[in-house]
Amino acid sequence: MATTPKPIFVLNGPNLNQLGTREPEIYGDVTLADIETMCQGQAAKLGLSVDFRQSNLEGELVTWIQEAQDSASGTIINAAAYSHTSIALYDALKQLDQPIIEVHLSNIYMREAFRHHSHVSSLADGIICGLGAKGYTLALEAMAGLIQSKG
Ligand code: DQA
Repeated sequence: MATTPKPIFVLNGPNLNQLGTREPEIYGDVTLADIETMCQGQAAKLGLSVDFRQSNLEGELVTWIQEAQDSASGTIINAAAYSHTSIALYDALKQLDQPIIEVHLSNIYMREAFRHHSHVSSLADGIICGLGAKGYTLALEAMAGLIQSKG
């Protein structure tokens, strides 16, 4: 019997649950629920499934990254502010033997200097930033290709 392919984990870090009302001049009016709907639609088109999650807690994100090793075929991560601060997320992602794509809604290089470095970037197969919610669907499309070429 054919095994069900593992989902793509789409992990979102702190404050992304506030999208829609948070700094709309930077993030627009899209909500995280809208982004999840877009991801589910895009995944269905690509024949993939998505496990979409958000946490404000660094340790919970670490646990999910550990879980991804056995339960996901690839991980898309917008670690939000933890991208710039978290060695714990870096260490967890470093152990992950599967494609990783980093996403940011905003162009972090056009913003404050403290956002210009991300601990995630050196571990990611690809990075998308500055394209808003579209970045997530582009990441899924790219992930489909990475999974195929690595699989
Ligand atoms: C963000 C950019 C980060 O610098 C910021 O801390 C966020 C969101 C983005 O998606 O643009 O929370 O990751």
